[in-house]
Amino acid sequence: MHAVGIVAAAGSGLRLGADRPKALVGLGGRALVRWAVDTLHEGGVADVVVAVPANDLAAFAAVLPADARLVVGGATRTASVRAALAAVTLPARPAPDAVLVHDAARPLTPPDVVARVLTALADGAPAVVPVLPVVDTTVVVDGDGVVVDAVPRGRLRRVQTPQGFSRAVLADAYDRLPADAELTDDAAVVRAAGVPVTTVPGDERAAKVTVAHDLALAELQVAR
Ligand code: C5P
Repeated sequence: MHAVGIVAAAGSGLRLGADRPKALVGLGGRALVRWAVDTLHEGGVADVVVAVPANDLAAFAAVLPADARLVVGGATRTASVRAALAAVTLPARPAPDAVLVHDAARPLTPPDVVARVLTALADGAPAVVPVLPVVDTTVVVDGDGVVVDAVPRGRLRRVQTPQGFSRAVLADAYDRLPADAELTDDAAVVRAAGVPVTTVPGDERAAKVTVAHDLALAELQVAR
């Protein structure tokens, strides 16, 4: 099975409060985006396309391996993945069988997670996501913040990346998605097209770096 990786790295990272795009922020001396690309490589995905902000192509090229292919991302994550997806098939080369979409914002994802996603795809799943259980009591609030319902957490899962797809299935789902649609992950895109999404175990180390506290925790992990 030939799988190509996509890394969504075109976000601004305003919530992190950094002076550069989040994916360029350093962690243990390596940019977050580089961690994400290295994880895909170590997990068995050699060919990677990275969606980056239009104004920062040179800065991203400087921190990535020479064989990573860079494309200009869009205004939303959905638009960025759409742009990268258009670049996964190279002219005069057979189209890859599978695509793994990963967030630059999950730098410490162990390569084992990538391998689990690849195995599920090789076993025939059209779409697969790594998940973890929800351990906190989870409630619904009204507009005033008053609890109106408690959600039984036994069947709830937190969804991580990389998410894996048959390339044809993902391309078809993006083709059907309205141009201005904005979904928070790619599993939602294929589900909108009626594709079943299966799960494999995720990993707490694949936590998302969103705010400064997340980066501080990640720094502690790489310092050990
Ligand atoms: O903003 P958030 O942390 O949810 O973004 C998840 C991932 O999507 C990040 O790695 C970010 O760089 C990427 N992204 C993107 N293009 C955007 C917005 C976010 O590639 N326009």
